[in-house]
Amino acid sequence: MTDQHPTIAFDFVSSDGSKTWPVTANRGESLLDIAWRHQIPMEGACEGAMACSTCHVLITADLLDSLKPASDEEEDMLDITYNVTANSRLGCQILVDEQFNGTKIYLPPDTRNMM
Ligand code: FES
Repeated sequence: MTDQHPTIAFDFVSSDGSKTWPVTANRGESLLDIAWRHQIPMEGACEGAMACSTCHVLITADLLDSLKPASDEEEDMLDITYNVTANSRLGCQILVDEQFNGTKIYLPPDTRNMM
């Protein structure tokens, strides 16, 4: 995390759409770090080591198309994750930039919060 003023604003949304968390972020922060900073229920048990998939998020198709594709390691982890869709990514691997402004990041139905 940098000490610059956050310039990117978007929402996390619960799987059933009943809860929305507006967040602000700095370019280069991961979705996991942003979720943690805003007390959003994303576990992230392995803290970004791609060993748990508890940071699973669903990303809108238009935004997904413009992101760097998942690495083989990320794909392998998604292969063993519940409720995976074509829009699934690992939140610890997604670094935000200005194109996230105004978007919505959805938490999957199996989101657990063990914190
Ligand atoms: S935090 Fe474990 S895979 Fe992302």
